[in-house]
Amino acid sequence: MTTLAGREIVLGVTGGIAAYKSCEIVRELRKEGANVVVVLTAAGGHFITPLTLQTLSKNPVHTDLFNLISESEIGHISLAQRANLLLVAPATANIIGKIRNGIADDLLSTIAMATTAPILLAPAMNSQMYASPAVRENVEVLSERGVTFVDPDEGELACGTTGPGRLADTGKILEMARILLADKILEGKKVVVSAGPTAEDIDPVRYLTNRASGKMGFAMATVARRFGAEVTLVTGPTRLADPPFLKVEHVRSAKEMMNAVAAAAENADAVVMAAAVADFRPASSSPRKIRKGEIEGKIDLVPTDDILATLGGSKRERVLVGFAAETNDVEGNAREKMRRKNLDAIVANDVSRADIGFDSDSNEVRVYFSDGTALDMVKAPKEAIASAVWRAVCHKFIKG
Ligand code: CTP
Repeated sequence: MTTLAGREIVLGVTGGIAAYKSCEIVRELRKEGANVVVVLTAAGGHFITPLTLQTLSKNPVHTDLFNLISESEIGHISLAQRANLLLVAPATANIIGKIRNGIADDLLSTIAMATTAPILLAPAMNSQMYASPAVRENVEVLSERGVTFVDPDEGELACGTTGPGRLADTGKILEMARILLADKILEGKKVVVSAGPTAEDIDPVRYLTNRASGKMGFAMATVARRFGAEVTLVTGPTRLADPPFLKVEHVRSAKEMMNAVAAAAENADAVVMAAAVADFRPASSSPRKIRKGEIEGKIDLVPTDDILATLGGSKRERVLVGFAAETNDVEGNAREKMRRKNLDAIVANDVSRADIGFDSDSNEVRVYFSDGTALDMVKAPKEAIASAVWRAVCHKFIKG
């Protein structure tokens, strides 16, 4: 079950060239199981037709405040009340100004006034308009009133200029919708999540690393943010894009990861180490490329610091969760690591299976807790596993 499944989302589409992108938003929302009811303004209707949005949303598109049929069947108040979220994308300077000033002269602005659901606005307009004192002030006042904005991206705009004003990426808009609608079980909590492999340099062109993709750690960080936490994601080198709306710190070596995690962990409520930290690094890293003849068939290695064991060793209030990627005796190894590193929980998975684990989008895990209990999580997308792990960890250790 995704966060948006079964949710009623009223999508306002206003009159800007980015209105065509609302098609993609409708499709993505529906893919996650949301029911999307589109409200198209008169200006929006110049850019995109109700038929397109109706076909994609599989619901009648509402355009008119005083349409007798739709008002008798599903009036503006009912739309406002049914909505779990009012999303306006694209939101023009005009609709932002109307909502700020309490003007309700069409269906969308009336719903915005009548709804008690969270309001999410994704502005798209010319850069000068976006920078204008009126829009700045409207955005500020609405933010103070609890309206959420997904800021526009920078780039080439349809009017020929370049700057901020392009409708934010669909992925970013959907992620903010998920954040607004998820249970707030980690509200007010600070969490640190590590992800990915580390890279231990031998010389400027060669390094030691491992097969971790970072996907499980990124999922743990993303889901914690949805649950309301203030998240710092410390990641080694991966091919993944930074998740939006959280703090991301990029590191390379185990030593850099240790420093970044330790600093962020200082006032954190929970630290989750999903990273596959190198256990050894070359004793020295050459500043120049090492020639073939200089290697002599071996590289001297020295152990890296164990980040979790270091955090677990100090007196602490925070919750510590480790991951154990194992190929054999999964339970024995996982429980031994939990004890040795003084953890509250360890998430174990069998990486000898090709369908889960490294680089896969799915995982199947068993979580072992320090009180001796364990919880099985059947094969599911990594975000669903992350959600189940956080719920279990919250339930046992982080209540309230
Ligand atoms: N870990 C860590 N610092 C390290 C090595 C591992 O914090 N230098 C963390 C990992 O992020 C993971 C947990 O410890 O959460 C278990 O990592 P794993 O590599 O499975 O355990 P090791 O202690 O390295 O044991 P082994 O390699 O022998 O399996």
